[in-house]
Amino acid sequence: MAQSKPEQSRLIIHDLARRNGRTEFARDVRSGLSSYPKQLFPKYLYDELGSRLFEAICEVDEYYLTRAEDKILTSYADEIVRAIPNCKTLIELGSGSAQKTRKIIEALIRGCGELLFIPVDISATALEKSSHALLDSYPNLKINAYAADYFEALEALPPLGPDPALVLFLGSNIGNFEPDEAVDFLSAIRRVLRRQDALLLGADLKKDARTLEAAYDDSLGVTRAFIVNELERINRELDANFDLWAFGLRSLYNESAGRVEVYLESLRSQDINIRGLDMSISFDAGERIHMENSYKFDLNGLKLLGRRSGFDLERTWLDEEKLFSSNLFRVPEA
Ligand code: AVJ
Repeated sequence: MAQSKPEQSRLIIHDLARRNGRTEFARDVRSGLSSYPKQLFPKYLYDELGSRLFEAICEVDEYYLTRAEDKILTSYADEIVRAIPNCKTLIELGSGSAQKTRKIIEALIRGCGELLFIPVDISATALEKSSHALLDSYPNLKINAYAADYFEALEALPPLGPDPALVLFLGSNIGNFEPDEAVDFLSAIRRVLRRQDALLLGADLKKDARTLEAAYDDSLGVTRAFIVNELERINRELDANFDLWAFGLRSLYNESAGRVEVYLESLRSQDINIRGLDMSISFDAGERIHMENSYKFDLNGLKLLGRRSGFDLERTWLDEEKLFSSNLFRVPEA
């Protein structure tokens, strides 16, 4: 059997996140905690520990999303990949551990024998770990990785080769965007794609409030740890004194808005010092910090989202229980 090329010649990691990371975090924490109602941004949940805690969320019973999407990709990867013949470039935004991606990578390599994978993630350590694991598994894979903000990475992307490319945006990461931001984001993806390319978008589906709220407030408390880690990150990086036990997780399905809203609620009135920002803030008992939204979708909404972003929704795959959707968006003919 042929010896595979050494790993380092198959891997490039561009770290754009480190450059402006620290000051941006400080600025966003200051403005978020000065506003009313108070808010923090979900992208800061994913420091090294936060990325690991999210991996753990994917394992808990109540968080059905990852398992449902994995089932879809396991059943239909070959079918999905057949929709983009000769695809030799796979781009993934928010790749994380890239576990589910393996199904698509394997199907593409089965089809073409080789593949360039371009993962983008806000966490450089998650990228490094997942890249090495992938290179270990697939000798015919090359990786050109970007530790960056999604928009930043889309601008920094190298020109796509002549062959078709597939972009993945999995896990219902799209749900963190406000509807208008989702359109801006998909439009930005649309701008780097050509007629022969496609986007596979994973989107969680609307369902009963009980199932949704349990998924975002599991009984083991892993979601609480994941969310509260952002306060701990402020303690660590900005020298603050948040008492983590003085905040409770509140995950509420807002049905008319079609989103799960995730809050941390102050369990008593308290004052917090953020020395690194030279700032103190007070909380009333019951006051909330808005931590993230997780929008839920239906097929009509997905079609509309595509249309507003310059895509046609060509095909949707569902898991057996119809919990989650994988959607193939295509650049329409002129
Ligand atoms: C990574 C944004 C898809 O919204 O389901 C999971 C984040 N937050 N549990 C989601 C999350 C709490 C997750 N996304």
